[in-house]
Amino acid sequence: MVKIEIKAEINSCELLVIPVFQAELGKGTAAEADGKIGGLIKGLGGKEFEGKPNQTALLRTTSPLKRVLLYGIGKREEFNADLLRCAGGAAARIASGAQLSSVSLSLPEKVDAFEAANALVQGVLLGGYKFDKYFSEGDAKAKPVGEIVAVAKAEHRKQVEDAIHFATVVSEASNIARDLANESGDDAWPQNMAAKIESIAKRHSLKFRAIDEHEAKKLGMNAYLSVGRGSVHQPKFIVLEYKPVDARGKPIAFVGKGITFDSGGISIKPSANMEKMKHDKSGASAVVGAMVACSQLKIPRHIVGVTPFTENLPSGSATKPGDVVKAMNGKTIEVINTDAEGRLVLSDALAYAVKEIKPEAVIDLATLTGAVFVALGDVRSGLMGNNAKLAQRVKDAGEREFERVWELPMDKEYDEKVKSTVADIKNVGGPMGDSGTIAGAVFLKNFVGDTPWVHLDIAATAWVEKEKPYYCLGATGVGVRLLARMMREWK
Ligand code: BES
Ligand code: MN
Ligand code: ZN
Repeated sequence: MVKIEIKAEINSCELLVIPVFQAELGKGTAAEADGKIGGLIKGLGGKEFEGKPNQTALLRTTSPLKRVLLYGIGKREEFNADLLRCAGGAAARIASGAQLSSVSLSLPEKVDAFEAANALVQGVLLGGYKFDKYFSEGDAKAKPVGEIVAVAKAEHRKQVEDAIHFATVVSEASNIARDLANESGDDAWPQNMAAKIESIAKRHSLKFRAIDEHEAKKLGMNAYLSVGRGSVHQPKFIVLEYKPVDARGKPIAFVGKGITFDSGGISIKPSANMEKMKHDKSGASAVVGAMVACSQLKIPRHIVGVTPFTENLPSGSATKPGDVVKAMNGKTIEVINTDAEGRLVLSDALAYAVKEIKPEAVIDLATLTGAVFVALGDVRSGLMGNNAKLAQRVKDAGEREFERVWELPMDKEYDEKVKSTVADIKNVGGPMGDSGTIAGAVFLKNFVGDTPWVHLDIAATAWVEKEKPYYCLGATGVGVRLLARMMREWK
């Protein structure tokens, strides 16, 4: 747990981060600090530092402000708070490299104090994360900062306090999600995931329930169960519940795809990049993170998190292309491709959520399709759903937290794509480009009835292959910030 402080002025520190707008180097906080460090900033000539987006200058001083990091946040009119998240992330890297225990963050002027403090603090906490449990050498281990000082005007104290609380909660919850998603398949089969999640649930006063194979069979979850038939590991369908005494309205349900390893099954994947399929539980991991965040934030709503875990492997007992399975809502599914397993798992999870929880809204997150890389790249997650108001809530929260989404159409003409000749529906779309992301959502629509629903395809945003200032390689925890922010603002 980091210690966080707010100060109106700073006179000494190990590292002070100053976000600087382009062409505003001589003004505001940078100019103020410059008075304390003997004009070093003014001395930066020419193109050395202009404040262009993500441009940095690290100054080592002989004053009590030992190090000053100038971080470019570009033109004021093009500003986005994510640049502050990047500034915080860059500071975390420098602090970790130099073994500094404290980072001070200067809020830029004339920027919403909540958004600024939120992004800066998140940047430091997300940027300090590393998945380091398998390194034996001390050097490769993360050295997270122990103290963050926010330098903000006294009149902004309330917003900054609020932001710091929100930012710490969601960053720590995102890092929990990253830990779960990054875990390799040999240490993350459904049973271990259940054990890890049970201990997380205990620490955060969430009710934990694990539905085993036997009970899932009784509930009629044959689509879910069909995916794990080739694995020696038993499936575990986990339900987390957060119910504060002041809960208002009907519950909200979060559902996350939890494939602990996706080999494709009998429709086996090519071996190149197959190791990345250990991340195929990123949706479920985000749901666990979001549940932790909502409980820490004391959101006044009853929230249920549904995370079906299972492993998709080929074997003599595995489900085969052509098999027909019946989901818990009675719909029959022809399994054309055993690699389209996410929707099989989600079909029963969504049907369960709608039937057992009777939620006001259900939001699912899934690393569902490779096709979403083609549609949107790794910049935005795909959003599809059946309710414009709910979709708007998700879009707004995504913009605020920079976990942005983009809506893809769900016209009824797409329903044709998943029609089967032998069952109610089939688990892949047509042969053209339309076999991808939309077909996945059109399939899922069959399991939510009239309940307002949003599906987020996070296959391309759940992990990064190129570092960002606040993301190391691997899982991003995408969805945690979005869901927490959405619930914070839910009216
Ligand atoms: N887990 C994959 C989707 C995926 C691909 C996630 C790449 C992250 C990176 C999913 O289960 C899958 O295999 N989808 C298939 C569906 C197809 C068979 C209809 C795909 O996208 O190729
Ligand atoms: Mn698959
Ligand atoms: Zn998958």
